[in-house]
Order: sequence, then structure tokens, then C-alpha cells
Amino acid sequence: MVKTETAALPRHIAIIMDGNGRWAKRRLLPRQAGHRAGLTAARRIIESCVRLHISALTLFAFSSENWQRPQWEVGNLMGLLMKALEDEVRELHANNVRLRFIGALDAFSPDLRHGMHRAAELTALNAGLALNIAASYGGRWDIVQAAHKLAAAAVSGHIRPDEIDEVCLSQALVLPELPDPDLFIRTGGEQRISNFLLWNLAYTELYFTDSLWPDFDEPALQTALDWYAVRQRRFGRTPEQVKEEAGA
Ligand code: IPE
Ligand code: IPE
Ligand code: MG
Repeated sequence: MVKTETAALPRHIAIIMDGNGRWAKRRLLPRQAGHRAGLTAARRIIESCVRLHISALTLFAFSSENWQRPQWEVGNLMGLLMKALEDEVRELHANNVRLRFIGALDAFSPDLRHGMHRAAELTALNAGLALNIAASYGGRWDIVQAAHKLAAAAVSGHIRPDEIDEVCLSQALVLPELPDPDLFIRTGGEQRISNFLLWNLAYTELYFTDSLWPDFDEPALQTALDWYAVRQRRFGRTPEQVKEEAGA
């Protein structure tokens, strides 16, 4: 069971759920079985975040680069996404979760887009965990779509080019109202960002674990939270400055 009194709890957690394929391979199962087990792990971690009163959780479910996987695997993943939309949304809504999908959603089938839209609409007014599922998402895509919005606003005279600053640009990204992630977790042993939230992760604490995503459970989450709780977040200042401010 996850403890509820962690010293410093992250407001926003972002997770690259990696390692489903290797988890399946070790068990001589098809990759699809790994993705199914990955969905169970995601459900478990969402429940833990709800219990812990984490404000926001962003899960990387499918990257812009994942479209390049073999067609059968992409098809399996789409099927799983559809099934998750059918099976999970009611429960998430009952738990006061606000669900949203972020990414180049036009790439999905009309059925999937409809399901995503309906889930977001149903849960839009929920005040509990803000759950963002990054699907067909790429950090570079996000920055480019923000640039498009700002360029269009400049052309139509709503903003002068020299008024464009970091605040404007972050407002044009797909998660405008959430604080940047405090804690990033990547399972599966790779130590890379793989085109996840490039802009938003500028000052996030990065936690990597060898644990494969289907094995990532509450104690594993607690280990990450304990690691986070003892980080000193300096944002460019000296350790002494940070201590003084914390004591003040
Ligand atoms: C992550 O697991 C899930 C997706 C990218 C959709 P992988 O499928 O990448 O698993 P590994 O990295 O091959 O083990
Ligand atoms: C990152 O995992 C994307 C998701 C977990 C959805 P990948 O397995 O696609 O990442 P790379 O290609 O190994 O960096
Ligand atoms: Mg992988």
C-alpha cells in the first residue's frame, strides 16, 4: 500500500511506460500479451495516484514514432486502446478523474477519436486527478503545433511577434494549464526521453528504473516517490539559497 504522507509529493508525474515487449518475451508470450499486462499496470498506477491525491498524471501510451512499428502491432495497440476506452472510462469518471488525450489525434480512426472525445467530454468537469494520455504524441510535434498557433495569431494581428515569450509558447502547448511535471519516471531501463514532453521536462526530476512496465506496482511507485522527496530542486540557485528559502 502506498503511504499517504510523503514529505514532498509531486503535483504532476509524467511516465514513459516502457518494457511491455521485453516483459512478454521473457515469458515466451507475444508482444501483445505484454501490452495487455501494461494496461493492467497503468490501471494500478492511476488508482495509486488517485489515492495519493496527485494532481496530474501524464502517461506516454503511443509516440509519434510508434506508428513505424509493424502493422500488426500498431493494430493490436489500437484495439487495446479502444477496449480501454470501453472498459475503463466509467470507473475513472466514478473516481472523479478528468481524462484527456493529447497528441496528433487526427491520425486515429474515427471510432477511436469519437471514444476519446466522449471520454474527455464526460469527465471534463471532474476535479480529481487530471489524467492525460499521450497518444500519437511527440514533444517536437507539440512545439510545432504551438508555433503554428502563434504564427496564425501574429498574422491575424492578435499578437506581435516580439510579444512571443516563454509564457505564450507554453500556453500554446497541449497542456497549457497544468504545472510542468515535477517527477518523470521511465521504466524499462533506457535512459532517454524518446520525444516525450520536451518543453515541459526542462526542470523535471528524472527517475529511471530497470523494472519493466508490467511489473511496475505500488511499492515501485513508492520507491520513485521516496527518491523524489529527497531531491533538492534548485532551479539554478545555490543549495544555501534553497535552504534559506525553505526555512523562511
Ligand atoms: C512500451 O513498451 C509500449 C509502447 C511503446 C506502446 P514497448 O513495446 O516499447 O516494450 P519494449 O521496449 O519493446 O520492451
Ligand atoms: C517510448 O517507448 C514510447 C512509449 C512508451 C509510448 P519506445 O519503446 O517507443 O521508445 P524507444 O524507441 O525505445 O526510445
Ligand atoms: Mg520500448
